[in-house]
Amino acid sequence: MQDSTFWWRGGVIYQIYPRSFLDSNGDGIGDLPGITEKLDYVASLGVDGIWLSPFFTSPMADFGYDISDYRDVDPMFGTLEDFKTLLRHAHALGLKVIIDQVISHTSDQHPWFQESRCDRDNARADWYVWADPKPDGTPPNNWLSIFGGSAWTFDPRRRQYYLHNFLIEQPDLNFHNPAVRDAQLDNMRFWLELGVDGFRLDTVNFYFHDAQLRDNPALDPGEAKTLGAPEANPYTWQRHVHDISRPENLDFLKQLRALMDEFPGTTTVGEIGDDHPLERMAEYTAGGDKLHMAYTFDLLNAPRSPAYIHEVIERFQRLAGDAWPCWALSNHDVMRSATRWGADEDSEAYPKITLAMLLSLRGSVCLYQGEELGLPEADVPFERIQDPYGKVLWPDFKGRDGCRTPIPWTDDIQGGFSRVEPWLPVDTRHLLRAVSRQEARADSLLNSVRALIAFRREHPALFDGDLRLVDIGDELLGFVREHDDERLLCVFNLGGQARECRLPEHGALLDAPGFTARLENDSLHLPAYQAAYLRLD
Ligand code: GLC
Repeated sequence: MQDSTFWWRGGVIYQIYPRSFLDSNGDGIGDLPGITEKLDYVASLGVDGIWLSPFFTSPMADFGYDISDYRDVDPMFGTLEDFKTLLRHAHALGLKVIIDQVISHTSDQHPWFQESRCDRDNARADWYVWADPKPDGTPPNNWLSIFGGSAWTFDPRRRQYYLHNFLIEQPDLNFHNPAVRDAQLDNMRFWLELGVDGFRLDTVNFYFHDAQLRDNPALDPGEAKTLGAPEANPYTWQRHVHDISRPENLDFLKQLRALMDEFPGTTTVGEIGDDHPLERMAEYTAGGDKLHMAYTFDLLNAPRSPAYIHEVIERFQRLAGDAWPCWALSNHDVMRSATRWGADEDSEAYPKITLAMLLSLRGSVCLYQGEELGLPEADVPFERIQDPYGKVLWPDFKGRDGCRTPIPWTDDIQGGFSRVEPWLPVDTRHLLRAVSRQEARADSLLNSVRALIAFRREHPALFDGDLRLVDIGDELLGFVREHDDERLLCVFNLGGQARECRLPEHGALLDAPGFTARLENDSLHLPAYQAAYLRLD
């Protein structure tokens, strides 16, 4: 049995986007009591814990990623008491609870910013990143906002610009100021004392900026854009050396880890968007004195091919040492993988093979709500688009609403999510994949995912073993997972055609949930979309 302090190592974390999980009070928006009502369902998946996207007080310019009170619940989602109830219920079911911490920036409605913007001499004058215009009145440098335009907005009161890596309504805090760092660590302590089991750290490599405000260089012509932002976004044209991922951040992450270590058994998972994400993930999670885990967009935005996935794993393995990744194929920021990768594939078999692959990687796993149902990206018409990012770049990039629509609990009207028209429409294709329908079929994707999670749990090599890639041909992905005396060869056929390969070593096929493969004289036959797990001698 695993030491409970390290529950997160190899654990499966189910991400809940509160607005779209279950609406308990009939306002068309999901809420905390709705989540509590469905915790039995979450526990039935066999996951180790949940990550709740933000439910804090917020004007909702970026749907909660713009916080105006770090220590309270937005009335839209319920009350602090509702959160405590949720936490109690989750713990009673053996589920850990990780909450989002968006500490890099606040809402422009946060009292800190309201005070800071008044003049240049107030007590919080230096809590945000303020800078004088250039002599010609233009912004201090060439930094861009991910959500469009300059990262600087002029405030006439101070006659200065302030920095925002995201929306104008999300001013960036000045982490060079120790009072800011302490205030945010205190906010985190508040939730740790309440009993949460850890944090998902929003934009964890964005905390610091270059104090000299140097311009970012342009990418060289033909140089790969690795940030994973949509092609249509000029943010990807720069090399982000001065606005993010500053070396000073490492010391702060150590300070943050010292706080976490006061609460044994808690964990952190950082979100990394960077020009060199795997390098950063290795840097931030190695050594046991910074983050516990981190995730990147390498499998979240990527093109699909076994060769590409092989390359990502290989690159990370080369850097890793004791670094610990958290892999994800979907979340609230990217197109659902069933569509992004599986648009032309079998809609039931394809999500299953990709989830089997995900659940076999070395590291922890985030599973995004609805992924266990194989939901495709919802089609949201322009009139219903809510995401400001989608409005700016439409129609080249339609924003993030398509992965944020309500969970279909039943195939009734509104998918049993709400009594009224929800904040984002329920895609009618989702009703066919509703929880109620899938519960009724033993071989549904939902039941397969439960079996796959249980299978991972039964095999220490899968949740905590080392990983070594094996070359098994371009069309298949293969690696060996090893823990003490358990050695498993895992092979995945992510495509729609049957494949064959020779085993690199003798092995015996394990009975893996719902997969059919054949082994004849060390030759492995894998039908379309099938995985094979073999115990090596
Ligand atoms: C992260 C969040 C995203 C949000 C952004 C700004 O990338 O996942 O939803 O818009 O940070 O906080």
